[in-house]
Amino acid sequence: MPKNFSPLQKQVQQIIYNDAISVDERLQTVCEILRNEITYYDWVGFYFKNGDKEELILGPYAGAPTDHTVIPFGKGICGQVAVSNKNFVVPDVAAQDNYIACSINVKSEIVVPLFVNGKNVGQIDIDSNTPDPFTEEDERFLEFINSNVAEIL
Ligand code: SME
Repeated sequence: MPKNFSPLQKQVQQIIYNDAISVDERLQTVCEILRNEITYYDWVGFYFKNGDKEELILGPYAGAPTDHTVIPFGKGICGQVAVSNKNFVVPDVAAQDNYIACSINVKSEIVVPLFVNGKNVGQIDIDSNTPDPFTEEDERFLEFINSNVAEIL
């Protein structure tokens, strides 16, 4: 069944372009809305490249706190996306060798890179407790979010 992301797209844009609050507060709110509105989004967060270092630092997120606040490039799903510049959809995290577990409840994951002027500066990361829930519609939706976020970074 097709997913109807368009009302959420408008809502998310209103938050992203609300310059009455800080960028971090906006990203925090975006994470919370996605987690609340999409039943199979159980953890939603942004990671950003740490300056010139080959590592990602956790930014705003919604969901259970994670120990993985710093992820070296190449490590885990997130670290691989930092290097590949490509979306990574993981229907079953147990089938991945290069995976960093945040919670035993997580069954699947999607990571979509965030580009500013063609440079991969970070990513949005979604964990789901549902097996294999992500489709191309999720990819397009998360790309849409990232391209809007890129405008305010
Ligand atoms: N599972 C990720 C680590 C980040 S957590 O999902 C919050 C990975 O393998 O890179």
